[in-house]
Amino acid sequence: MIVLGIETSCDETSAAVIQDGFLKSNIVLSQEIHGEYGGVVPEIASREHEVHLTSIIALALQRASISKENVDAIAVTYGAGLMGALLVGLNVAKGLAIGLNIPFLGVNHMEGHLYANMIDNPQMDYPFLCMLVSGGHTQIWRVDSFGEYTLFSNTVDDAAGEAFDKGARILGLKYPGGPEIQRVATGGDSTAFDFPRPRLKRSELDFSFSGLKTAILYTCKKMNANELIMNQSDIAASYQEAIIDTLLEKLEKVHLKTNINKVSVAGGVAANSRFREKASDLSQKIGLNIQFPKMELCTDNAAMIAMAGYERLNGGEISTLDLPAIPNLTLAG
Ligand code: KG4
Ligand code: ZN
Repeated sequence: MIVLGIETSCDETSAAVIQDGFLKSNIVLSQEIHGEYGGVVPEIASREHEVHLTSIIALALQRASISKENVDAIAVTYGAGLMGALLVGLNVAKGLAIGLNIPFLGVNHMEGHLYANMIDNPQMDYPFLCMLVSGGHTQIWRVDSFGEYTLFSNTVDDAAGEAFDKGARILGLKYPGGPEIQRVATGGDSTAFDFPRPRLKRSELDFSFSGLKTAILYTCKKMNANELIMNQSDIAASYQEAIIDTLLEKLEKVHLKTNINKVSVAGGVAANSRFREKASDLSQKIGLNIQFPKMELCTDNAAMIAMAGYERLNGGEISTLDLPAIPNLTLAG
């Protein structure tokens, strides 16, 4: 079965082709225009998708050496995400499905992230823990089989990617903040500033990043422009370290609670090299088997949507043309 995947939930315009479970192509256009605004501007994101999606799909088909007449089904993100951005992908998918007389399936963006690792590690067997660390989510799921998920940890305020983005903004760096903080932190002293590792009394497995954001804000406010420039690298390194330590501390707790040692990490923050390094140290220390997707499969992409869609389509699922875009779609819902 040949599945064309389409992803337009936020600021990546992407199309991919999966044939019989194998990735044939994955084209991702990151909308760099948002960098100058310090965050994603929803209206601009929709317009950019509108301009580029058709040619990105054509390129994905061309790279896979597949003509659109040979596509068997379309998998498209229908939530969570920005309403206008989702609608562009969803409507193009519906139009193609009608024009080519093939089925289409709405895919949950989070389920896509969960299965990003499956593209290169199809041997990942159940049950496993999936740590989802993106711009909108910071969660740890127990995955018992395809479609069977239990949430163990969630953030009570900001997501880890959001903490990177907001911290970067405070440091005067551009959006997206994660890669910027990583770049500036390189060579910095991660022990120079003592940022908190927030612990919630009520729920020891949950994450909280808002205190960390306040801490970096006050640290920077106390400095003049010169001191900020002098300390930027150390602040970024210390801030990054605090986010990563928080993520790994909760992961260890969930591992101890569930006794599951297989872990799949997903989402944009999984691209962070210091996170990968510290996660691998932790794996060796406590005997975890942690898998990270390839860099290009960490951030938003249509390959993961095509993959999750392929699994569901194989199980006989299809969507009807009245499927709406659902900006706040959750994984269990
Ligand atoms: O998964 P993703 O592409 O989109 C969402 O579904 O949210 O994640 C985007 C997030 C952004 O907050 C971005 O700053 C963060 O992932 N990110 C990183 C890195 N690359 C992207 N965070 C830390 N280090 C990175 N190298
Ligand atoms: Zn995402």
